[in-house]
Amino acid sequence: MSEEVVVVAHSNIALVKYWGKREGKSRHLNLPAVGSISMTLDALFTTTGVVFDPDLRRDEFVLGAAPATSSASKDRERVSAFLDLVRDLAGIETFARVRTNNNFPTGAGLASSASGFAALALAATEAAGLDLSQKELSILARQGSGSAARSIYGGFVELFRGDLADGTDCYATQLAPESHWPLALVVAVTSSEKKHVSSREGMERTTDTSPYYPAWITSHPNDLDDARRAIETKDFDSLSEVTESSCLKMHASMMAARPPLLYWNGATTTAMQEIQRLRRSGVPVCFTADAGPQVKAICAADAIEKVEKTLSAIHGVHRLFRCGLGSGAHRATDVAS
Ligand code: PMV
Repeated sequence: MSEEVVVVAHSNIALVKYWGKREGKSRHLNLPAVGSISMTLDALFTTTGVVFDPDLRRDEFVLGAAPATSSASKDRERVSAFLDLVRDLAGIETFARVRTNNNFPTGAGLASSASGFAALALAATEAAGLDLSQKELSILARQGSGSAARSIYGGFVELFRGDLADGTDCYATQLAPESHWPLALVVAVTSSEKKHVSSREGMERTTDTSPYYPAWITSHPNDLDDARRAIETKDFDSLSEVTESSCLKMHASMMAARPPLLYWNGATTTAMQEIQRLRRSGVPVCFTADAGPQVKAICAADAIEKVEKTLSAIHGVHRLFRCGLGSGAHRATDVAS
């Protein structure tokens, strides 16, 4: 039996979003239709332990202290399919025991799949005796979840769309380390429910039916250029503009799908408007939201108290998480529970 390898990977939030896959119906490589740029978050993370055990007759997967549910068996299948990729790389057939824990609600638009598959990629490859580069790890993590490719790195990160059919040029890289621009982020949790339509399904529906999807794709490279420049020059106004635009453009493309996808609730919209009001009053803050109802406020580190005060006063905001920029995936000592 191999020794259990435990790692921590942090969640990330995309400033310029990815939505949609590039390879039509054959989606096994999970290649995004567009590139994306994100911030890795220190306070939201997954801890995962993996051990390959010759006595196992199938992969075992335990997420937190969750009782076995039908979604648990779906999760196990997804983890097992990912472990098959690792077994192929390592040339082994042994099954694995995976213990994992998120320190935040799972599957509710807080990017648990990003930190989850980044942690699994690092823990499983090391437990299988492989020593992959960060680029190779991001290519592997991407096959579990597109955004996971970015959580391999800390700070500001770009995931390239790539052009090659085998996906070898579709990997993430660090644009700037955590120390470059110490921004803060406040997550306003407006619901802890698991989302009804997964990102994977939502992307397919948008790609296949939304009349706005082609415009989303063609306008995207410009957003990436703007965000890269804003990060490099630490220009908060420009970052705000491109971040809110990319978020709302992604949601607009989903809302125009058939059947339409609306991940927001009333508090989501109120929080977005309150953040814009705060910015108009001179506070450097902007919002983004993934495929879920939570709102993420990105702000200058010294504006965090004002932002928290505004968000906590909104009816329907249940909880706030305060984050700074986080580090890349790394080894840990134990699976926190
Ligand atoms: O990582 P996935 O495949 O679950 O997709 C995530 C997509 C968004 O979170 C909505 C946007 C992004 O770039 O993270």
